[in-house]
Amino acid sequence: MKLNIAVLPGDGIGPEIAAQGVEVMSAVCKKFGHEVRYEYALCGADAIDKVGDPFPEETYEICKGADAVLFSAVGDPKFDNDPTAKVRPEQGLLAMRKKLGLFANIRPVQTFKCLLHKSPLRADLVDGADFLCIRELTGGMYFGEKYQDNDKAYDTNMYTRPEIERILKVGFEYAMKRKKHLTVVDKANVLASSRLWRQIAQEMAPSYPKVQTDYMYVDNAAMRMIQEPKFFDVMVTENTFGDILTDEGSCISGSMGLLPSASTGESTPVFEPIHGSWPQAKGLNIANPLAQILSVAMLFEYFGCKAEGALIREAVDASLDANVRTPEIQMEGGAKYGTKEVGTWIVNYINN
Ligand code: IPM
Ligand code: MG
Repeated sequence: MKLNIAVLPGDGIGPEIAAQGVEVMSAVCKKFGHEVRYEYALCGADAIDKVGDPFPEETYEICKGADAVLFSAVGDPKFDNDPTAKVRPEQGLLAMRKKLGLFANIRPVQTFKCLLHKSPLRADLVDGADFLCIRELTGGMYFGEKYQDNDKAYDTNMYTRPEIERILKVGFEYAMKRKKHLTVVDKANVLASSRLWRQIAQEMAPSYPKVQTDYMYVDNAAMRMIQEPKFFDVMVTENTFGDILTDEGSCISGSMGLLPSASTGESTPVFEPIHGSWPQAKGLNIANPLAQILSVAMLFEYFGCKAEGALIREAVDASLDANVRTPEIQMEGGAKYGTKEVGTWIVNYINN
């Protein structure tokens, strides 16, 4: 296979983890005889500083022309604390999602046996938890009409039927491939947009008779994820709820640095960690590269390259078992490995 990959390292720890993702990708391509070419492009605060736009047209063209995008992170504190900033790094990520039509964000929540003790939840609750959150990614409050002045501000949570139907379809189809249990998460007791989601889900459910479909209010889902994470198999939800619930989900596995994601839709798919740019750690070689590396596994799996994905997952498991871990997941007294050292260990494992 020939792969053209757009690499968008972005801000903060982004470039450090992107470098490890690329190393792993190259090692796997070499091993399996794939040809890979990378094209780097600007995004986020880095792009604002260099060209004044968090998702420049050139970056868009590079992404559009690629087979897949390997994305790292955007965000910078100099914008976070300035609510009046006219352009923000996050707008780059949102523009990329919108322009590439990436309406389906697949966020797997999984645990690693040797890291169960790292979860703030009891090990018996999280052991074996394994679910997918399918987050709608190009609609809702993120993109609805907005207004802001000194006395009033609003964001509109608008969804149309086609937007809801296509994301629910993704949810039902993943449920069919897994344990056939779909939870539609909404706030239909309060929000009109949620009532339309629920209505459409109820219309579609009979077409998937093998799937057990249930409906859960988002507040209740947030509680259930902590009380009984093993209840879930596939959950599907709108953009804002999915954003919030997946940060919560990352606590189940013990570190935000472990969870990858795939964003798919109309154009080039994007593979990215769910965590942010962790600016405080920039340049310190302490960020966990595993979420980025597992995003590369998802990339291969997307293209049907199961063995390639499986080898990356095996290498990641082996690194954890060998205690080759970044500081936030290292055992007490264990040697602390850097971003680069974890990546290199995984590359060596793949090469051998
Ligand atoms: C995520 C992030 C983004 C989001 C931010 C960086 C805009 O939190 O991918 O979950 O809110 O979607
Ligand atoms: Mg988020």
